[in-house]
Amino acid sequence: MFKIAIIENIHKDGLNLLENHPNFEYELIEDVSEKNLIEKLPEFDACTLRVSKLDEKILKHCPKLRAISRHGVGYDNVDIKFLKEKKISLLVTATANAVAVAEHVIAMFLSLSKSVSTYDKEVRNGDFKKNANKIKTLELLNKNILIAGFGRIGKKLISRCLAFDTKVYVYDPYVEDKIIKDFGGIRVKSISEGLKIADYVSLHMPLTNETKNLINYSILKEMKKNAIIVNTARGGIVNEADLDKALNENLILGAALDVFVNEPINLDNPLLKNNKVLLSPHSATFTDECTSRMAIETTKNIIDFFENKIDKSMIINL
Ligand SMILES: NC(=O)c1ccc[n+]([C@@H]2O[C@H](COP(=O)([O-])OP(=O)(O)OC[C@H]3O[C@@H](n4cnc5c(N)ncnc54)[C@H](O)[C@@H]3O)[C@@H](O)[C@H]2O)c1
Repeated sequence: MFKIAIIENIHKDGLNLLENHPNFEYELIEDVSEKNLIEKLPEFDACTLRVSKLDEKILKHCPKLRAISRHGVGYDNVDIKFLKEKKISLLVTATANAVAVAEHVIAMFLSLSKSVSTYDKEVRNGDFKKNANKIKTLELLNKNILIAGFGRIGKKLISRCLAFDTKVYVYDPYVEDKIIKDFGGIRVKSISEGLKIADYVSLHMPLTNETKNLINYSILKEMKKNAIIVNTARGGIVNEADLDKALNENLILGAALDVFVNEPINLDNPLLKNNKVLLSPHSATFTDECTSRMAIETTKNIIDFFENKIDKSMIINL
């Protein structure tokens, strides 16, 4: 019998896979303090993990641990070096969340283009049509969209963008030309080339030394004045102070952020007062459907791992 720790609760559809399974038993751990995890985790063979941190201080007390199954695809909260040393496998929900994020991007593109939140406020304030001719609204039709980072999410986003009769440019130096072409995209060779021609930009790369502060004041200056940029990837890819400045100086039209340098966002962050930016609390995957899919994939990955039938795409190559 394998003992699985569910660190932070997940949707019941995922837990159902472990319930009554002959080879697995699970325990929910809701107190994610370092002290409690050090006390509890040593008895488990594997665990699921949402956003809490598993670093060496905790992991060195877990000699039985063979796999960590992330509820998501990012893994900045896990000590990768330690996992590699101790040969602990890292599993991710590789197929569960791309569509939810792609739809979130479309929602952000459309909300900003149609000034949805501004119109809503005007109607509630009794200003019905008063400022309607001053509020700028746009269509996606015939616009240039840049998808930067063409992995799981970028590939789901492109077909949704093309359905709006747009031209989609792709920046991803690690993806072959043929793949971009087969998906209906046009390759750009640098982020700068893409940003200059794009009306809409969506970021879908990891946060690395190469991508940190990639979107900064000098690059924002090169963009079109009507441009809209959306970041659902990782906080820090967009420099927040530079974005605030660029929006205030009307260098671009608008932005939407689902991810931030500090999460939760600091309450003194000037972006909270900037009405040209639309914000969501790292919630792109919070749809009913995706929450269920992610929970199922998180526990199924553990079962498949111990039954030696895990799909390679679910394992991170450490
Ligand atoms: N907001 C959310 O809730 C949410 C949910 C899921 C994923 N994410 C984040 O979205 C991002 C994309 O996720 P994914 O599942 O598509 O990842 P993925 O690994 O499938 O794709 C990432 C792509 O980025 C490319 N890339 C790497 N470095 C690059 C660079 N310097 N410039 C351009 N492209 C580069 C890679 O070649 C790859 O094709 C990740 O940062 C992930 O953590 C956020």
